[in-house]
Amino acid sequence: MFHVEQYNGTKEENYELVLKQLKALLEDEKDQIANLSNAASLLNQFLDQVNWVGFYIWKEDELVLGPFQGLPACVRIPSGKGVCGTAILEGKTQVVPDVHQFPGHIACDAASQSEIVVPMYVNGALFGVLDIDSPVKNRFDEIDEQYISQFAELTAQYL
Ligand code: SME
Repeated sequence: MFHVEQYNGTKEENYELVLKQLKALLEDEKDQIANLSNAASLLNQFLDQVNWVGFYIWKEDELVLGPFQGLPACVRIPSGKGVCGTAILEGKTQVVPDVHQFPGHIACDAASQSEIVVPMYVNGALFGVLDIDSPVKNRFDEIDEQYISQFAELTAQYL
């Protein structure tokens, strides 16, 4: 059974703990949907001030909605479109302090104000993205970016 932790250390300590939890959740399982689902759930219960946490998977030249927590979302995103499509086109993490200022942002949940999208690679090939939305502006700082990137990388090791 999964035990909900009290994340009451420093921000860095709390992220280190959730990374340990992630490894423990994924390391004995190889099913991709199961691991992505548990990763999304773990991160969603860990992070405060978020309204959407999930994955888009690169399939036949577009991103397709994968396991997530939050409201139903747009299913297909072409490369270069929105924050997710930009992340894969540029091959780098996008931290968007105010989604309304991001040209071409795709609004799935009207509550979203800021967003982070991390591209994911498996064995060097594009796999998809980890996408997190927040209902507050400027939700993701450099520490969040650093650890959310680690979270995405660790997840990718078990896909
Ligand atoms: N906002 C994203 C679309 C996905 S939703 O946030 C779940 C984008 O602009 O790519």
